[in-house]
Amino acid sequence: LGDRNHIKCVKLKTLGDVFGANAEIKLTIPVGKLFTYELMRETFQNDFEPLSKLYAGRLYDDPMVFKCNKQNYPDLPEWLRLTQRHPYDNGFLYGTPTSPGKNIIEIYAVNKRSYETARHILVIKVVAEKMLPYQAEFFIKLREVEKVLPSSVQDEIKQDIQNLWNTQAVEIVNITNALDRGGRVPLPVAGHFEGVYVKAGSIDYFSECLLMVMTPEHQKQCTGEAGLKVKTPGGCNFCSIPSNCITWCKTELFDLTEQEPAPPAPTMSSGILEAGGDFDPPESPPSRDFLPDYIVTVIVPLILAIILCLLLAYIMYGRREGVAKRNARTNQIQLYHHHTIHENTDELRNMAGNRGAPPPLSTLPMFNSRTLDRAPPLHSDSPSIPLIMAQHDPYSETLPR
Ligand SMILES: *[C@@H]1O[C@H](CO)[C@@H](O)[C@H](O)[C@H]1NC(C)=O
Repeated sequence: LGDRNHIKCVKLKTLGDVFGANAEIKLTIPVGKLFTYELMRETFQNDFEPLSKLYAGRLYDDPMVFKCNKQNYPDLPEWLRLTQRHPYDNGFLYGTPTSPGKNIIEIYAVNKRSYETARHILVIKVVAEKMLPYQAEFFIKLREVEKVLPSSVQDEIKQDIQNLWNTQAVEIVNITNALDRGGRVPLPVAGHFEGVYVKAGSIDYFSECLLMVMTPEHQKQCTGEAGLKVKTPGGCNFCSIPSNCITWCKTELFDLTEQEPAPPAPTMSSGILEAGGDFDPPESPPSRDFLPDYIVTVIVPLILAIILCLLLAYIMYGRREGVAKRNARTNQIQLYHHHTIHENTDELRNMAGNRGAPPPLSTLPMFNSRTLDRAPPLHSDSPSIPLIMAQHDPYSETLPR
């Protein structure tokens, strides 16, 4: 732990707790400044295999996943965040406390090899301190939050900001992953990063360089897409390491001394209503004529329904062709064929109905089925004699000749 952030760190171990499984770490931090705490995998590794190093001489490097919450609560306090990119990376607790108080944080490490867990307790005492009056936020495009949180990188960034601000009295106030501020997840391609917002504060007023952000030219330059390509102006470019360079157009200044005074507190009255006149009930509304509404909603649809009914009835019944017309249009042979099928069916039905039915007429020698006239006995098998005698048959007139 560096002594940056004015952290007073005391590591306590209870007497019976030889291996540090219940290690309690106490920190005191001020309101309004960035707090970073690195969850070292090495420390927890000692909790999992405390004696292996001593006796077996083995050193493990297990993958670990960290889970943190406020004691007796499901989650961390609002201002505190946990991040760990990969089980083989250290985790970070970071955030900026906004109000004084005591936070007891439980840190669980789950060993992904043996599925053992270890618990540490972190007691964070937040003490009140005046906010830094001048703050500025910078966007670092080529960084990810885990890469910025180690204190060495924070110091590099702070140095650049100190140069830009032209003062040594610069503190980092907040670091935020751009994804938490509506940024997009980058493509998994080299050269694409999530981006990090770094907010710094100082008791000294903004430098000339920073004040350029407020000029109308800057605002004109930075509108739209073009703004992302604008270079930091000449004498203000202090970034020594390319990945720490800021996106000039996303720089924002906050002057907390300029804040409007809080609105005046509401004036309290005696709590008793002033005397007024008697209650005057409103008059009943004028009567309305509902007939037009009735006509529109009931009569008109009814008339329409009746008209539709009549139309449908005419189409369904009034325009039917009728059997006679259909027969007249049908090919006569087809019609005759149809009739014979019907007659033969009837005949077979009759025969099935009762035993004493006369034998079918068609089994008899040649006859006319309608007139029941027997044909004169034929003595010839000549094919020229028709099977059906047509003279008296009313249907035969329709046969093609
Ligand atoms: C730090 O940044 C986060 C995310 O933008 C924000 O929610 C939080 O209020 C900030 N804290 C302070 C003290 O500005």
